[in-house]
Amino acid sequence: MSEDAWAALADPFVDGAYATVKGRVRTFVLHHQLLDHLPEPPASVLDVGGGAAHQSLPLARRGHQVTVLDSSAAMLAKAEQRVSAEPAAVRDRVRLVEASGEEAAAATGGERFAAVLCHGVLMYLPRPEPMLSALCGCLAPGGIVSVMALNAATLAIRPALEKRWVEALAAFEATHERGVLGTDTRADTVEHLAELLHDGNAPLEAWYGVWLFSDWMDLPLATTDVAAVADVELQASRRDPYRQLSRVFHMVGRRPASDPT
Ligand SMILES: C[S@@+](CC[C@H](N)C(=O)[O-])C[C@H]1O[C@@H](n2cnc3c(N)ncnc32)[C@H](O)[C@@H]1O
Repeated sequence: MSEDAWAALADPFVDGAYATVKGRVRTFVLHHQLLDHLPEPPASVLDVGGGAAHQSLPLARRGHQVTVLDSSAAMLAKAEQRVSAEPAAVRDRVRLVEASGEEAAAATGGERFAAVLCHGVLMYLPRPEPMLSALCGCLAPGGIVSVMALNAATLAIRPALEKRWVEALAAFEATHERGVLGTDTRADTVEHLAELLHDGNAPLEAWYGVWLFSDWMDLPLATTDVAAVADVELQASRRDPYRQLSRVFHMVGRRPASDPT
């Protein structure tokens, strides 16, 4: 997907998708899952395809040093806007870099990070291998890589719940779907991405679901107890069989602390 496409999607994504119960749940659930793996602040975090910094800004607030790397100037402008509303101490901990994630190592001067995030990006790429390899290449020894991807194992659920039965039947074997932003998206499996993390010397440490219940309900922001929904979703995301049914999954790999390369 080109930068121009993201210029057109920046408003729908930031002001639309995130301004929903689902958007809030996603941030909460991913954040709490991450806290189980991250070191205490300050640690260096690289957010690849970080967009408007929804996931990394809360980490900067906690005291981490955050680099948001994205190929879209429009998305980084959104990040800039959100970061500029923060207190100076938080602003000073965030750096924005315009570059492609596949070239993250060169774009960040070869720095090695304690955590490399890549959430909601792989589904827009034709294949996951170059990005996964680039993410793993930016890890410090003992560092974690955190990836959120579209779940190929659950593609039939959405068309079925929308009563699109022909598409639901085809979706059992599908690898793509029309995503919530109206663009074509590609799905991955936990198993395949785990192999790629292994190849990148950052073997899988844990994997989670992200949403379940709030994905399929129309929950109005104004009248929903978002904190209560998020607590339920966090529990569901951590255990079988619920996590297996999530439309997206979150996986965390870790480079061995003993690996100096
Ligand atoms: C759906 S948004 C997700 C943003 C953010 N990670 C989040 O979770 O809120 C996808 C982002 O990936 C960025 N992106 C897509 N392909 C990329 C690539 N090859 N390198 C860097 N960023 C990319 C887009 O510009 C966009 O900001």
